[in-house]
Amino acid sequence: MAAIERAADQEENVQGSGAISTIVIIIAMQTEALPLVNTFQLTEDPDSPFPKGVPWVRYHGTYKGLEINIIWPGKDSLLGVDSVGTISASLVTYSSIQALRPDLIINAGTAGGFKAKGASIADVYLASEVAFHDRRIPIPVFDQYGVGARKTFSTPNLVREINLKIGKLSTGDSLDMSPHDEASIMANEAVIKDMEGAAVAYVASLFSIPTIFLKAVTDIIDGDKPTAEEFLENLAAVTAALDQAVSQVVDFLPGRSLSEL
Ligand code: ADE
Repeated sequence: MAAIERAADQEENVQGSGAISTIVIIIAMQTEALPLVNTFQLTEDPDSPFPKGVPWVRYHGTYKGLEINIIWPGKDSLLGVDSVGTISASLVTYSSIQALRPDLIINAGTAGGFKAKGASIADVYLASEVAFHDRRIPIPVFDQYGVGARKTFSTPNLVREINLKIGKLSTGDSLDMSPHDEASIMANEAVIKDMEGAAVAYVASLFSIPTIFLKAVTDIIDGDKPTAEEFLENLAAVTAALDQAVSQVVDFLPGRSLSEL
């Protein structure tokens, strides 16, 4: 495509009138990412667009006319575990936006859910709002900056089409929940709790990239089982529910503009 046409397409997409063409799906864990890599028949990019030496991985390909990129922050180079949490999520979101200029970002992953607010294992939520629960700065206005609450991109037609639960998401860098975190999560009115969402939202908002958050519940925070145990026990099975939800959302995109979501 000529540069001038591409520029016109991007301009239309920013205004919401052109068809969505490039999406970035940010996923923190390999177990969550690989089923979707298979579903969309993506391949790992041998010439990664990311700086040399980082563990970040791009899987990409064309699916139903969409350029799909799944970005996984990779394994920690010292410890060999998935690079979960807000720091890696922020970095890969920034770098993916710079390198790939997506029309839309999807942050897909797992979350803890509160049964008192209606969450059950394997539910998939579309987050209506995101906020942080571990950035407490008790100084006027800095307090709101720390919480970083944001409404997510509104997708009324998508919500009508796909049967997903809707709820507020709270993000922090710990899998467990301290009493301070719990108070902040309640103040955020969250139904689900993850380790990346609000960070992805912050970076995407810097560049005004619409972002959708899909989170599948692996553990019940207000239940009887220890969180880490329940999370590990359910991770593989719940990933299948996440895969299905992400596929349904992606299948809704071809031929549609952002304003039609
Ligand atoms: N991801 C899955 N379960 C989680 C929890 N309880 N807290 C944060 N992130 C999670």
